[in-house]
Amino acid sequence: MFISLRLAALCFWVLLLDLCGIIKTLGQSNGSGVVRVVVKEGSDAILPCSLSTKENAESKLFDWKKDGPKEVFFYDAGLHSNNGRPGQDQQFKGRVSHFQDDLKYGNASIIIRNTKLTDSGDYSCDFPRLQPRQIFHIQLVVVGASPKPYVTILDEMKDWALLQCEVRGASSKPTVEWQDSAGNKLPAEEPQVSERGGSFYITVNTTVKKTDHYRCVATQEEIKHQIHTETFVYIGEKLFSSGDVTGWFFGGIILGAVILAAVLVLLVAAKFITVRRNKGAAKERHENGEGEIMT
Ligand SMILES: *[C@@H]1O[C@H](CO)[C@@H](O)[C@H](O)[C@H]1NC(C)=O
Repeated sequence: MFISLRLAALCFWVLLLDLCGIIKTLGQSNGSGVVRVVVKEGSDAILPCSLSTKENAESKLFDWKKDGPKEVFFYDAGLHSNNGRPGQDQQFKGRVSHFQDDLKYGNASIIIRNTKLTDSGDYSCDFPRLQPRQIFHIQLVVVGASPKPYVTILDEMKDWALLQCEVRGASSKPTVEWQDSAGNKLPAEEPQVSERGGSFYITVNTTVKKTDHYRCVATQEEIKHQIHTETFVYIGEKLFSSGDVTGWFFGGIILGAVILAAVLVLLVAAKFITVRRNKGAAKERHENGEGEIMT
């Protein structure tokens, strides 16, 4: 009776601990037990792996692999991929290290420096000799930073302008929005999103009715990357507005007439100077001639 009570209490605690474990895992990951790490291309990524028991791992064996068989980092009681242990995949040569000082707390995390898009994938951290065996799964996502948006004025009238912003090829989907010079988000049409070869193409149009500096901002929240392009838009009557064909036409005529007049003036002036010079030269020659006759 006493023993079964103890057992029941123990079961209760085991259940509770289990539940805590599950909740903790849910908190750390996306629910599937896989930890997700997202980094910007070119930066360093720390892939976490810690023994639940926190027992010293300095004399243990652990093995980091990518997408199944690819050797990332191997450690066996002090001998590892960076001090002579062969077998590391070429892709990771010289870019991966463990944290020696953290091993005694069961922390077998690694760092991958200067990440490339191709480093994205599913990693496993395996302690194959532990009883029970412990294996952890980490998903690494390396995100290319979004390029600068392209901004065009699609249409322009005297009291409004239609602006277009295009992000051409971002490796993760950025949010794209229009802002005025005060940083207020402008109401815009529904963004058009397409995906080609793993790259996102996003177009957002907006109509503005005031003269201002407008900017199109692309944000990739998960890698804290933001980039924008600014454009100045003048709203109002213009002498030669770019959307106004008659303006260009008359502008062209006036410009042509001005150039023609300038050329004529130049020609006349040149002729006048030439005539004057010729006259002067003739006079000189004449004077010299007289002199010669005199001698
Ligand atoms: C393990 O070590 C790494 C590197 O020092 C650290 O960033 C990480 O927080 C550690 N993890 C735990 C659970 O202590």
